[in-house]
Amino acid sequence: MIGTAIDTKLPRLHGTLPGPKAKEIVALDGRHISPSYTRSYPLVAKRGQGAMIEDVDGNVFLDFAAGIAGVSTGHCHPKGVEAIQRQAAELIHISGTDFYYSQMIELAEKLEKVTPGKEPKRVFYANSGTEAVEAAIKLARYATGREKLIAFQGCFHGRTMGSLSLTASKAVQRKGFGSLLSGVFHIPYPNQYRCPFGGGAHDCGDDVIEHLEKVVFKKLADPSDVAAIFVEPVQGEGGYVPAPPKFLRDLADICARHGILLVADEVQSGMGRTGKWWASEYAGIEPDIMCIAKGIASGMPLGATIARASLMNWKPGAHASTFGGNPVCLAAALATVDLLEGGYIENARKVGERLKSRMQGWTERFRTVGDVRGMGLMLGVEFVTDRKSREPAHDLRDRIVERAFHKGLLVLGAGESTLRFCPPLLVNEEQVDFAASAIEEAIAEVEQAA
Ligand SMILES: Cc1ncc(COP(=O)(O)O)c(C=O)c1O
Repeated sequence: MIGTAIDTKLPRLHGTLPGPKAKEIVALDGRHISPSYTRSYPLVAKRGQGAMIEDVDGNVFLDFAAGIAGVSTGHCHPKGVEAIQRQAAELIHISGTDFYYSQMIELAEKLEKVTPGKEPKRVFYANSGTEAVEAAIKLARYATGREKLIAFQGCFHGRTMGSLSLTASKAVQRKGFGSLLSGVFHIPYPNQYRCPFGGGAHDCGDDVIEHLEKVVFKKLADPSDVAAIFVEPVQGEGGYVPAPPKFLRDLADICARHGILLVADEVQSGMGRTGKWWASEYAGIEPDIMCIAKGIASGMPLGATIARASLMNWKPGAHASTFGGNPVCLAAALATVDLLEGGYIENARKVGERLKSRMQGWTERFRTVGDVRGMGLMLGVEFVTDRKSREPAHDLRDRIVERAFHKGLLVLGAGESTLRFCPPLLVNEEQVDFAASAIEEAIAEVEQAA
């Protein structure tokens, strides 16, 4: 391996942050790079190993953000690196759009086995989550001959014009971009902490189903015109909000009844992150189409859209991609699948439970913690100004994220006032305990200063 190993499993900082080299690069970035990116704090990465990141000044951080849930098997896992290097030395690119190579089939066979549903499936390869969603939009319209699409308020499906039409996460993501796809309707998401129609958590999903059937289908879009309903089984960018399992089953029933395709966007929740292969498994649903990306190739750019073979039956030329399913990305994905099967999914479940049980005390202990939730290593803490009003505490959350950075822990926000934990799936108990303690300290400090 090139370079020396990062010889610590916990953070090691020296001096104030950002260090001199980091400061210089952040300044240059402002001059050269699109300001549309959303950086929360000045981490300038140099190298990574496992769950650790070393910055350009030699500070070492514990990474509970994992490249937005991208590096599922940790940074530069030796088996992933080896697979990438071997493949890069043999064939980097030829385009599966025009030619054949066996890795496309090898990964498709694996995905067919591990995704819900017994019927034969086909896979379309893309380069990202948004492209996996674009393919699903096109496939749903093509296969049903219908135009309308339904998605959820608070959902995030990507930033290209088709997927952006479904995204309803933050207005800034849509502002200034003109009209998007027509025929898209958004309904409330069954957030059990903030039931959209009031009422208790228990009937949250039922209320949304009633709204869909009695308002949307009766007044806005006849179900026979609806091609697909897109749902994140756990809303990701919206704040790490799991949908109630019964709600997902009811939604699947409604779709089946009306010939509407159920599309599960598991770009963030997928491939082991929740302690199962897919979050859909917690509800026992079999989506018609699945969109996956992020962690599936441990940091290499790969997305996939998976559907029953009888459904993914479009004509040559109907959809394609020059780089999607590039051999090097597929090699990384095949190594990722092996590592997940080899123990990382089970680890995500086990250490995720440990972290969640620690978080569960926070709603009592801290006045600004409104809710803790999630499964496996997809866990969120929602901050509120006070527990009674449940007013989202956006700035407070941001201050906690920033404090965590200064303690050597990398975390990200999600939604209006949620802090998310989405570390690599290989983190150990010591690392999880460190992260929990760092956040506890940060909350206490920020609450005291408020
Ligand atoms: C659920 C979901 N779908 C789609 C996307 C878009 O993925 P990408 O950024 O790879 O285009 C994201 C990204 O955060 C996501 O969380």
